[in-house]
Order: sequence, then C-alpha cells, then structure tokens
Amino acid sequence: MKILVTGGAGFIGSNFVLMLRRQRPDVSIVNLDLLTYAGNLENLKDLEDDPAHVFVRADVADREALEALFSEHAPDGVIHFAAESHVDRSILDARPFVVNNVLGTQVLLDVARKHGVARYLQVSTDEVYGSLGADGLFTEETPLAPNSPYAASKAAADMLVAAAVHTHGLDAVITRCSNNYGPLQFPEKLIPLMIANALEGRPLPVYGDGRQVRDWLHVSDHCSAIWAVFERAAAGSVYNIGGNNEWENIEVVKLMLSELDRPESLISFVKDRPGHDRRYAIDASRIRDDLGWEPARRFEEALPETIRWYLEHRAWSERVRSGAYLDYYEAQYGARIADSPPSRP
Ligand code: NAD
Ligand code: DAU
Repeated sequence: MKILVTGGAGFIGSNFVLMLRRQRPDVSIVNLDLLTYAGNLENLKDLEDDPAHVFVRADVADREALEALFSEHAPDGVIHFAAESHVDRSILDARPFVVNNVLGTQVLLDVARKHGVARYLQVSTDEVYGSLGADGLFTEETPLAPNSPYAASKAAADMLVAAAVHTHGLDAVITRCSNNYGPLQFPEKLIPLMIANALEGRPLPVYGDGRQVRDWLHVSDHCSAIWAVFERAAAGSVYNIGGNNEWENIEVVKLMLSELDRPESLISFVKDRPGHDRRYAIDASRIRDDLGWEPARRFEEALPETIRWYLEHRAWSERVRSGAYLDYYEAQYGARIADSPPSRP
C-alpha cells in the first residue's frame, strides 16, 4: 500500500511517518510538505536512504502540484496533517490559516477524489468543539463551536470533508485529538517552549491565571490512533482521541520545573491569550469501544522522558529557535527532492 501523508515534516506528521516506516514496512509513503517555519526535514533524516519514503516539497493548496504528485505516485490513501497549527499565530494573522487549512483541504479533497483514493483521513482537533466549563467532556456529537481563528479554520475544513462524504460519496474519516506532547515539537507550543526557557534561565510566560485545562496525550498515542482509524474505521465516521489526562497549565509548568530542577520563581504570569479556551477534555470511549484503541503512555513517565529528549537534543532545539534549521533543507537535500515552488491564490 502507498499513502500520501501531508505535513509529514512537522511535529505530529514526522512522528507518524517515522512510526509507520518502523512498524509497517509494507506501507510506502509519499510525504508532501511545504516546509513552512514549522516543517523541518531534519526530523526525517533517519529516512534519507529509505526508498519507501519519498519527500515532495509542495503546497497542499497548489492544485497543479497535487495533480502531478497523484499522477506520478498514485497513492491509495491520504492522511492530511498539513496545517497552520498555532493558536497565537492565528490571532496575530488569520489569513494563512484560511489559505492553508481551509483552501488547502478543499484542493486536496478535490484531487484525491478525482484520482479515486480509497480512503482519506482528516487530522482535526478537539478545538473545533470550543471550550468546556468545569464539567463534561467533548463527545463526537458535541456541536462545533470554534473560538480562535485557528479552530475556526479547522472546523471549516472538517465541514468540507463531511460535505465531500455526503455529496460526492468520498470515503473519508475525521479524527479530533487533544493536546500532544513529545519529541520534535516546535518550541512555540507550551511544553517545548517552557523547557527551552527554563534551560536558558528565562521567564516562563504563563497566560492569565494559568488555571486553563488541557488533556495531554503523547504524540505516539495520537499516531497509533490515527493509523487505527485509517485502517479500520467506517467511511464517514468521526473519532475523538484523548488521554483522559487533564492538567491545569500551571501544574504542568511546575512539574516541568521540578523535573528540570529549576526554581518556580521563573514563572511569569503574563497577559492572557485573547478568547482563551478554558478547558478541553475528551471522551474517547468511541475509539476504545469500536477499534480497541487506548493510550499506551502515561504522562507521569512520558513527560519526564520528553524533557530528557529535549535535554539530549539541545542542538536541535537551538537550531529550530534560531531558524538555522531552515538551512538544512538546502544543504542536505537541495537537488535530491522534488521541489515545486509554493504558489498562492
Ligand atoms: P506543525 O505546525 O508542527 O506542522 C505542520 C506541518 O504542515 C509543517 O511541516 C508545515 O510545513 C506543513 N504545512 C503547513 N502548511 C502547508 C501547506 N499549505 N502545504 C503543505 N504543508 C504545509 O503541526 P502539528 O502540531 O504537527 O499538527 C499537525 C496536525 O495535527 C494539524 O492539522 C493540527 O491541526 C493537528 N493537531 C495538532 C495537535 C497538537 O497538539 N499539536 C492536536 C490535535 C490536532
Ligand atoms: O487541543 C489541540 C490543540 O492543542 C491543537 O489543535 C493545536 O494545534 C495545538 O497548538 C494545541 O493548542 P493549544 O493552544 O492548547 O496549545 P499551546 O501549546 O499553544 O498552549 C497550551 C496551553 O498553554 C494553552 O492554554 C495556552 C497556554 N500557554 C501557551 C503558551 C505558548 C501559556 O500559558 N503560555 C504560553 O507561552
């Protein structure tokens, strides 16, 4: 089987590609990524000599590039990770979120349908459901009520996928996961940002009162859930993915400082994120009951392991934070990968 993975140079996408090549040698991968600020080919260097992994630099919103890719590689299925993924960036400028996440999804759906892919999986997020109060969980029936421009762009993309299923009979499925942590995460997100700042002795910026709640899941568990849904879920289905692992932000930050043996005096409460969602929490009983998926990792051991990964890969973090990783693409891969220049509507 051959699958097209989009966004496979980003945090979750690269973890997914590495996992699949390790666990499923029978599945070959075409990996399409635009290499925005968040895409890092260094994440994939273990696959440099792997003939069953082909990297294509292209924009998922570029119909011509997708047509060429589908004609050349004829993937059997698509797993769509590529997106602008950071809420704070969407508050500063929503346009790239609309172009990449909404238009990009529609172009990909159109080309995938035209070329008759057997299965399409949309990697979505629990943020499409909006914010919870002190009680309750998001189920797959919770109405979509996104609050940030990022979440709104992901909800719009989900609705375009549902429309393709309903109108065109596309075999598509949607996954909605909670917050991920683990290796290779861009250090703009809470956990790697706090680790990097603590190591540099810089303040740890906690938004508002720090009592917002997130439901943390190790990235490897998200990846295994996506594969289970891709392989075994019924066409048109939606699955929530979560770890039943709710933490207040401030408690996560304190735990990290304790693991790093750094003082809590580094914590700095700063102005809150506008429109900040208070609480996310996932009811993942459908994926457990239907597909037998459950998280394998526990936060109590996987968070310290994640911290150790960042300690052992300080050069990676420094290159990402300085932007130097962008040079890697030219130096390491220059002429060796198919390269379609980004196009924009
Ligand atoms: P990321 O920002 O680390 O990576 C995104 C990748 O997509 C990058 O490699 C980037 O270069 C690529 N990309 C962006 N626009 C593109 C375009 N137009 N064409 C081709 N490639 C493009 O994101 P992530 O955290 O790995 O998230 C991956 C997906 O999972 C996203 O769809 C996100 O909404 C979803 N998700 C993330 C989380 C989380 O906690 N990080 C949780 C649930 C769902
Ligand atoms: O829930 C899934 C979502 O999780 C994904 O769809 C998004 O792509 C992913 O970015 C993540 O969104 P969040 O906004 O929850 O993640 P972030 O790491 O940005 O923030 C986690 C919490 O920490 C949130 O309540 C905001 C807070 N925070 C974040 C940063 C970067 C701070 O207090 N300080 C910070 O500096």
